[in-house]
Amino acid sequence: MWQCSLGLLLLLFLLTGQVALGARRGRWRRELAPGLHLSGIRDADGQYCKKQGMCCTGRIDDCSLPYLGTTCYCDSFCNRNVSDCCPDFWDTCLGVPPPFPPIQGCTHGDRIYPVFGTYWDNCNRCTCQEKRQWECDKEPCLVDPDMINAINQGDYGWQAGNHSAFWGMTLDEGIRYRLGTIRPSSSVMNMNEIYTVLAPGEVLPTAFEASEKWPNLIHEPLDQGNCAGSWAFSTAAVASDRVSIHSMGHMTPLLSPQNLLSCDTLHQQGCRGGHLDGAWWFLRRRGVVSDHCYPFSGREQAEAGPAPPCMMHSRAMGRGKRQATRRCPNSHTDANDIYQVTPAYRLGSDEKEIMKELMENGPVQALMEVHEDFFLYKGGIYSHTPLSMARPEQYRRHGTHSVKITGWGEETLPDGRTLKYWTAANSWGPSWGERGHFRILRGSNECDIESFVLGVWGRVGMEDMGHR
Ligand SMILES: *[C@@H]1O[C@H](CO)[C@@H](O)[C@H](O)[C@H]1NC(C)=O
Ligand SMILES: *[C@@H]1O[C@H](CO)[C@@H](O)[C@H](O)[C@H]1NC(C)=O
Repeated sequence: MWQCSLGLLLLLFLLTGQVALGARRGRWRRELAPGLHLSGIRDADGQYCKKQGMCCTGRIDDCSLPYLGTTCYCDSFCNRNVSDCCPDFWDTCLGVPPPFPPIQGCTHGDRIYPVFGTYWDNCNRCTCQEKRQWECDKEPCLVDPDMINAINQGDYGWQAGNHSAFWGMTLDEGIRYRLGTIRPSSSVMNMNEIYTVLAPGEVLPTAFEASEKWPNLIHEPLDQGNCAGSWAFSTAAVASDRVSIHSMGHMTPLLSPQNLLSCDTLHQQGCRGGHLDGAWWFLRRRGVVSDHCYPFSGREQAEAGPAPPCMMHSRAMGRGKRQATRRCPNSHTDANDIYQVTPAYRLGSDEKEIMKELMENGPVQALMEVHEDFFLYKGGIYSHTPLSMARPEQYRRHGTHSVKITGWGEETLPDGRTLKYWTAANSWGPSWGERGHFRILRGSNECDIESFVLGVWGRVGMEDMGHR
């Protein structure tokens, strides 16, 4: 049998750090504690006294270990009529079988979980029931391995994968937290359309990419995280490129989505969604600073809450220009120049008009209806697959998003079909899709992407073109 000296106990305590502190608070707690094994021993195969080499005679309150959210003891005092012994006390310290029946819990992998123990299976929590059976939630997950396989085995023109930032989220959370553009009202949908007329015989190239025509002026995609603020991200992204292009590279700011999320609050809901026309109004009338000056903080918020308060304001300084009234809300940057644009204009939905605008003036903003399979996109030419049509309704979800179209092209598939596509930048970070970008079918209004397309001019004065 084991004998514990207090010195050895103290040493154990220091070495393992695992001895429950609760045991030191006084005897009353231990005396009042309920029996631990009233409905049987949970974690009956667990090693407690044995693993710690701990068996004590008499009453030694420090001869204890954490046990399923409470404390169990390896001293002989635990073996009174109200037992608070560790599960293996009788085997290890007395060499007899325990006087209580074991409750073994549930197994998963190579572990035994106690009753009410839990583990996560992707987005669903599984709980060990008292009947020793697992019971799991049955939410559709954002990353659905069956769907990934079906897409990759099918002939859809694109490949699917497990974007690790989405693993563990439900489909519903994906729709709620990763999009965030409010579909425009019909009056906005019909806003002044600009018709670009192609000259007779004018031929557009079969492929175009903004970053090739304007090297170093096209900005890489950002990551909106769990902030449903694509309205601010796509607006800032298009404005950044267009200010850079229209100033002929004299200014190349990456504009701040956070400035919009926190300060453009009239009829807007920050990380809970917003309107594109409101975002452009704000960029025109108030302007925003660069992302370096006013960096994104939405990701740190737990899920889509209200945006943090506005930390930047601007005031008129003549000739329609504005200047910031505050320093940048971070200590690394002093440059708090305000960037503005002219009124946004809507393009016709004809692909040729969008192409011509893109080629002449730079990337455009497009509304897009995102369906469940889009989150899985890893590469290729996306079009919405019918795969979830065969499944219960909660697997078919969609929400409104907005993105930046940057170019177009064509690709001939092994079966001889030629697919026309747009290239576009998303706001789900550089590891999603094709380095943060995607290609999507062109000319058939796939996912509504040709239905509401906007362009804008950077407001660039002569002085901006001078030395900076
Ligand atoms: C514990 O045992 C003692 C003596 O055997 C008895 O008097 C006491 O009521 C018991 N306590 C409980 C809670 O069963
Ligand atoms: C998906 O990625 C996550 C995170 O990297 C990983 O834990 C998970 O096992 C992956 N799932 C599948 C089915 O590959």
